[in-house]
Amino acid sequence: MNTLTRRRFLQITGLSTLGAATGLAGCSESRNATDASISASASSGGTPSGDATSKPSTSAAPAASSGTSLVLVFSRAGENYGVGTVEVGNTMVLARMIAEKTGADLFEIERAEPYPDAYDACCDEAVDEKNSGARPELAEMPNLSGYDTVYLGFPCWWGDMPMPVYTAIEALDWGGKTICPFNTHAGSGEAGMFATVARKCAGATVTSGLTMSGTTAQNDRNTAESQIDNWLASLS
Ligand SMILES: Cc1cc2nc3c(=O)[nH]c(=O)nc-3n(C[C@H](O)[C@H](O)[C@H](O)COP(=O)(O)O)c2cc1C
Repeated sequence: MNTLTRRRFLQITGLSTLGAATGLAGCSESRNATDASISASASSGGTPSGDATSKPSTSAAPAASSGTSLVLVFSRAGENYGVGTVEVGNTMVLARMIAEKTGADLFEIERAEPYPDAYDACCDEAVDEKNSGARPELAEMPNLSGYDTVYLGFPCWWGDMPMPVYTAIEALDWGGKTICPFNTHAGSGEAGMFATVARKCAGATVTSGLTMSGTTAQNDRNTAESQIDNWLASLS
């Protein structure tokens, strides 16, 4: 039996209908998210600050904007919360903007067996994976050779990163890399995921992250772009 069922997720996040996500609480913690606010204070490996961003790692590090950068992203198209059925996932919208603005390459983390297009079915599979600590096989493993800076993006799934992101980051050598994390969500903010990235990616320096609601990323491209611009400027 699942320890965290879809029904439970809907109860604690308020996602029982595809309606407003205001004040939505995440699966692992309750928070009101403010899109893309950049926290100046570090919270090393701990609970993220209330403005939905955190700077979980060691020292401030500049983000490269040359050809040595990679956008590494997990995102899912199909039916999703608050945006209907989309051809490009919310996090991918941001990933493409970041790649275009920085000149970075882009690699998509994809589960070998794609997730269902239907939102409920995807939620069911995702929570099973989370509860079992699955590390699903990927369609292709990313390769970080030659990259100094990695913009690592993912949605919040059940208050955590999707399990394929773990498959990828646990298999990679992060020594000497700079990770600039970003995520989208439906109310949970970054839910401590940036600190998890810092913990999992030994040897990397993790910068301040960008957190944005999925509906903003998908439906308000001007706001999304300006928040990305502010974030990238804060890194350089
Ligand atoms: C399986 C699943 C679980 C989710 N869990 C959460 C959650 O715990 N908290 C939250 O705020 N949003 C949650 N969401 C909503 C997504 O984080 C949000 O829609 C995000 O923008 C999706 O990004 P994508 O289109 O790049 O996949 C969940 C969505 C799915 C499909």
